[in-house]
Amino acid sequence: MQEFDVLVIGGGASGLRAAIAAKHAGAKVALITKIHPLRTNSGLAQGGLNAPLGKGDSPESFAEDTLLAGDGLCDRDVVRTFAAEASKEIIWLERMGVPFNRNGEGRIDLRPFGSNSKSRTCYTDDRTGHIVLQVLHEQAQRAEIPSLEEWFVTSLVADGNSCAGAIALSLRSGKLDSFSARAVILATGGFTRLYLPSTVSLGTTGDGQSLAYSAGARLMDMEMTQFHPTVFPRNPALLITEAALSEGAVMVNQKGEPIRLAKGLSREKICLSIHNAMQNGGGSVSLDLRPIGKDKLLSRFPQTHELVRGLAGLDITKEPIPIRPVAHRSVGGIETNATGETSLPGLFAVGECACNGLNGAGRLAGNTLTEAVVFGRKVGDAAAKYAKTASKKSFPSAKLSDEEKAITALVSGSSSGGDSSGKIHADLGRLMSEKVGLIREQAGLQEALDRIHRLKQRYRALRVRNTSRIYNYELTTYLELGSMLTLAEIVAQAALGRTESRGAHQRADFPQKDDRNWRNHTLVSLVQEEPRWDQKPVAG
Ligand code: FUM
Repeated sequence: MQEFDVLVIGGGASGLRAAIAAKHAGAKVALITKIHPLRTNSGLAQGGLNAPLGKGDSPESFAEDTLLAGDGLCDRDVVRTFAAEASKEIIWLERMGVPFNRNGEGRIDLRPFGSNSKSRTCYTDDRTGHIVLQVLHEQAQRAEIPSLEEWFVTSLVADGNSCAGAIALSLRSGKLDSFSARAVILATGGFTRLYLPSTVSLGTTGDGQSLAYSAGARLMDMEMTQFHPTVFPRNPALLITEAALSEGAVMVNQKGEPIRLAKGLSREKICLSIHNAMQNGGGSVSLDLRPIGKDKLLSRFPQTHELVRGLAGLDITKEPIPIRPVAHRSVGGIETNATGETSLPGLFAVGECACNGLNGAGRLAGNTLTEAVVFGRKVGDAAAKYAKTASKKSFPSAKLSDEEKAITALVSGSSSGGDSSGKIHADLGRLMSEKVGLIREQAGLQEALDRIHRLKQRYRALRVRNTSRIYNYELTTYLELGSMLTLAEIVAQAALGRTESRGAHQRADFPQKDDRNWRNHTLVSLVQEEPRWDQKPVAG
C-alpha cells in the first residue's frame, strides 16, 4: 500500500493545478490518472480562459456575465470569489510559461468570446487548452509530484464515513494496489461521453462522479449538460471554437442566408437558434468563417484549419462548414463547496467533475479552464490543510482482496453472445442524444429511462473475454460503461424531475423558467443501494 497526505485522481488542468497547490502547501501528494496528463480532455479546450484584465473590465462585470450564463442557479459568493481571483491565476500561468497571444502594446491579448460582455478571453491561438496543460504538467514535474500514469481507479475506500483512499488497477502491470490518503481530490473531468457524438476525449466517461456516488457523496444538477453550437458532426465530433463567431464568422442556412443572432447570446440560446433553423428550413446549418479573413484565419485558427482539412476534407478559408449543436460539457457533477469539500468528509472534487455553484445552469464560454486553475489552487490548498489536521485513517485491508475477486469474476473469458461494451455504449450514446439531448420532454425521458434499464440488463450479462491483465482495455471500457450507465439513469431522472426550462436544460413541454418552484438544485445520493432525490435552494 502506498500512503499520501493528498491523492489527486485525474491528470487534467484542475488535477495538475490542485496537485501543485497541495505540494506547495507542504503535503505529500501523488497524482493518479488513467491516461497521460497531456492526453486529457483539458487539451481540447480551444477558445481561451476568461479574466477581467482589460481596460474598463472588472471582477464585478465578469461575475455578472457568469451569473447571467448560469441562469439563476449560481451561488453568488462562489462566482464573486472566482471572478476576483481569475486574473491572479492567469498571471501565474503566464509567469509559469504560457505564451498567451499579445496585443500591439505587448500585453496579453483579450479576445471577444461567447456571451462575455467584454473582451476578456486570454488565448494562445486556438490551442489554449493544450498549451495550458503542457505548462501545468511541466510545473507538476518541477515540483516532483509523483505521477502514477495509466492507473485506473476502481473504487474509493472509506474509513467509517470518511474517505480513506482508493484502489486502482495498473494498466501496465495488471495489478491492483491500495492508496491510502488523508484527503482525496477527484479531478476526473466530465461525463459527456454518455452522448454520441460529443466533443470530448474518449476518457471523459464520468468516472469521478460515479466513484463519488458509489461512495455515498451527493451529485448535483446532473440534468445540466451543455451543448456546443459550432461542431462539425462526425464521431468523434470536431469542435470549431465559438471564438470564430465572436471574431466574425457567420452561420448560414441551407440556402446560404445568414442566421442572425442577437449580440451576447448564451451558448444555449445559439444552440436553440441552430436547432430552430434546422427544424424550420428542414435543412442543414453551416459556419462560414471566411468573413474573418484568410490571414487571421490562418494565424488565429491554425488548429481548426488543419483539423477540418485533415479530418473532413474541407477548407475553412474557402467554404462554409456544416455544423450542429453537439454535447460538450457537464455542468452538473459532485456537489462541493467553494473549497471542493464534498458531502463525504476527506473527499474533495474540482473542475468539471465537481458542481460548486459557479456554473449554475450553464457555463459561460471561456470559464472552463479558468475554473480549473482558480479552483484547482483553492481545492489543492484546502485538501492539504485538511490532511494536516485529519487523523490517520485506517484503510480496510480486506477491500483490496474483495476488489481482486470482483475483477477476476469479470474477466472470465467467456462469450457474451455477440454483445459488447462498444455496442451498448453506441446504443446509449444515441439514446441520450435523441431523448435526453438539447431539448427534452416527458415521454422521451420516460422512454430513455426504460431503455437505459434494458441496457443495464445487457451490461450485467456481459463478460470480459480478454483474460490478460496487461493493458486490458476491454476491461477498462467495461468499467467505464458501468459508470456511464449509472450516470445516464441519473441524468434522465433529474431531467424528468425538473419541470421547467433553464440554461442547459430545455423542456419542450415546460418551455418557461419557473423561479417560484425551481430556483433549487437537484441532489441525488446513493442510500442503501437506492438513489435518494432531494433539492436545495440556490445560495445567495
Ligand atoms: O468554443 C470553444 O472554444 C469552447 C471551449 C470550451 O468550452 O472550453
